[in-house]
Amino acid sequence: MALAAVVAHGGAGAGPERLANVERAVAIAAGILESGGSCVEAAVEACVVLEDDPVFNAGTGSVFRNDGSVELDASIQTSDGRMGFVIAIQETPNPIRVAARLLDQEVNGLTGDGARTWADEQGFPRSQVEGRPPFQRATDTVGVITRDGNGNIACATSTGGCSDRPSGRVGDVPLPGCGFWVQEGVGVGATGIGEAITRGMLSYRVAEKILAGMDLEESMIWALEDCLEEGAEVGLIALGSEGTGHGLANSKNMPWASWIARK
Ligand code: GLY
Repeated sequence: MALAAVVAHGGAGAGPERLANVERAVAIAAGILESGGSCVEAAVEACVVLEDDPVFNAGTGSVFRNDGSVELDASIQTSDGRMGFVIAIQETPNPIRVAARLLDQEVNGLTGDGARTWADEQGFPRSQVEGRPPFQRATDTVGVITRDGNGNIACATSTGGCSDRPSGRVGDVPLPGCGFWVQEGVGVGATGIGEAITRGMLSYRVAEKILAGMDLEESMIWALEDCLEEGAEVGLIALGSEGTGHGLANSKNMPWASWIARK
């Protein structure tokens, strides 16, 4: 048996004033895990809480693309080898639910109109996503990593994308190894400038360090210092096979919170 645990963030740049909102999502995940729920259920439901909270750039509060559209990316991966992601899906306030439905399909990921059509077939209702104009301060991405009592780990991430990006742009959130990576014994999620995170393949590289025995914080410091170009605001969360999760951002401006079950 493992001790259940959760770590979540509200985005690089979101600032400490969003901490209580992140803690609410962590409490939802903790409650699910304490009642015997799986890491996937806990990660998805906590991510939905963050997607529904308009202060975050994910789901309802997603920033407009340059053409005024709202396009959402979301991903989920599990330590038992499953993965689901959607890219630039529209009319879907909770894209993480569609990504999670893909976990048990042959297809890993879907994009744009194809993703939305598949969501229709799966019974996910269409609904206009409110979004927010780019002149309003946008944060970046939400992410939740959970470990359940069986030691299984899941990472769920969701975003409207960075500000000032064209329709169809693909950031780090739906790209395996970039915005997220999970395998047996480790889960990592990233937030910040998606292009820099992707060029650095940040989540996979942090996971490798953790699996090689590096401490969570040390592995994040290494990634933020050595795997990124100068000036890219980026944050990370991670959770291993035991102990509490951790979060770190190079701007120190990422609200994150964690929880672990009592022994
Ligand atoms: N990190 C979110 C994005 O670049 O889309």
